[in-house]
Amino acid sequence: MNLPFAESYKIKMVEPIRKSTIKERERWIKEAKYNLFNLHSDQVFIDLLTDSGTGAMSDRQWSEMMLGDESYAGASSYFKLKNAITDITGFPYFLPTHQGRGAENVLFSAMIKEGDIIPGNSHFDTTKGHIEFRKATAVDCTIAEAFDTNIDHPFKGDIDLEKLEKVLKEYPKERIPLIIVTVTCNSSGGQPVSLKNIREVKQMAEKYGIPVFFDSARFAENAYFIKMRENAYADKPIRHIVHEMFKYADGMTMSSKKDAIVNMGGFIALNDKPLFDKASIYNILFEGYISYGGMSGRDMNALAQGLYEGTDFDYLEARIKQVEYLGQILKDNGIPLQNPFGGHAIFVNAREFLPHLPKEEFVAQTLAIELYIESGVRGVEIGTLLADRDPETRENRYPELELLRLTIPRRVYSRNHMDYIGAALTNVYKRRDQIKRGFKIVKEAPILRHFTVELERR
Ligand code: F0G
Repeated sequence: MNLPFAESYKIKMVEPIRKSTIKERERWIKEAKYNLFNLHSDQVFIDLLTDSGTGAMSDRQWSEMMLGDESYAGASSYFKLKNAITDITGFPYFLPTHQGRGAENVLFSAMIKEGDIIPGNSHFDTTKGHIEFRKATAVDCTIAEAFDTNIDHPFKGDIDLEKLEKVLKEYPKERIPLIIVTVTCNSSGGQPVSLKNIREVKQMAEKYGIPVFFDSARFAENAYFIKMRENAYADKPIRHIVHEMFKYADGMTMSSKKDAIVNMGGFIALNDKPLFDKASIYNILFEGYISYGGMSGRDMNALAQGLYEGTDFDYLEARIKQVEYLGQILKDNGIPLQNPFGGHAIFVNAREFLPHLPKEEFVAQTLAIELYIESGVRGVEIGTLLADRDPETRENRYPELELLRLTIPRRVYSRNHMDYIGAALTNVYKRRDQIKRGFKIVKEAPILRHFTVELERR
């Protein structure tokens, strides 16, 4: 008999989670104004809201916490992190920040001005938020295949070079301060970008004299997919692929809460000393002195260790296979999903799941609420609520894909949990015709509304 796959780690500490009844959940979600962000965590059984900061640190990361140096300046933890970042990414300069959006705020303050155009593959919501906050525009140049969930393209995070070149030709260089490549591309479904595409984007960017930055939250998962799907890299170690990816970037922002498996933290890394000097000023203003930037010494130590663990092949294989396992259960039960499965999450095509609901009734949010009531599983809407309103017309933006994201925290849940989630969503799928109405907004913020929006049943 072939031995089945098993994770190369075991559990040393557990945290109880609470089961609840359908009646309780109906009451709680109503009290939460039908916004899953408003639920208390003990009202949630399995939490798939995000893979951000929700991973389980290893014994080695926890022991690094004890070695943290909390000196304000020149801490050994800062140098440990600096060395790890340079070792893994190849960038000589780095600035610590409290999380990914802190890195965006600092870098964009140094690079983006009103009226600028920032092309890329579907920018993440905080990235787009920081661009639009500066009255600049994010232009999505993702390949068209990404928006058809039934096409099985291996690199749905790829940038369409024709779309990109059109933008680069249309606007003067002075108005395009950078191109942002998000690896993996969260908004298109945790989809990877191929090294071929990364190389071609860099070549085109060089032709037009524009720097390329990676939004690197899930760079290691991206490298794993390159190894598995891009023939030339099948025999290359993950860290070799990571190095090659970053070779084609001028810098990166990082939310360390994802692939570096820490609960909080972020950074900017780059090649250019003058840009580092300029960004340092904003780092000190917004985040903290350049040798800690919003992180404790112990957090920097855990992050340095996490960068190595997060780029370990055995870990990545277990991670991606767990996501695949859930995806396969759902697929076998006929549930419409983004294909192929994403790195950090399964993305359910809510419009195909509930085709009878009008788009004005927040279809993916409706599905997320139904799944929560059914099972206590909390997913997250990646659809019309998240897409927000057009900053100029103030009309709702209806994204090409209306998705429910089931995001898997790293090293946290078991295969039984995946089976439970699979059964829960299948139950909702079987009774989908009885879900007749969606929701309407009763209160919303002017930007990033999904975090605080209040809803009512139609
Ligand atoms: N970039 C990407 C691709 C992200 O997925 C995120 C966060 C950020 C930047 C911002 O980083 O949260 O540390 O400030 N994504 C989380 C998610 C929130 O649930 O996908 P942050």
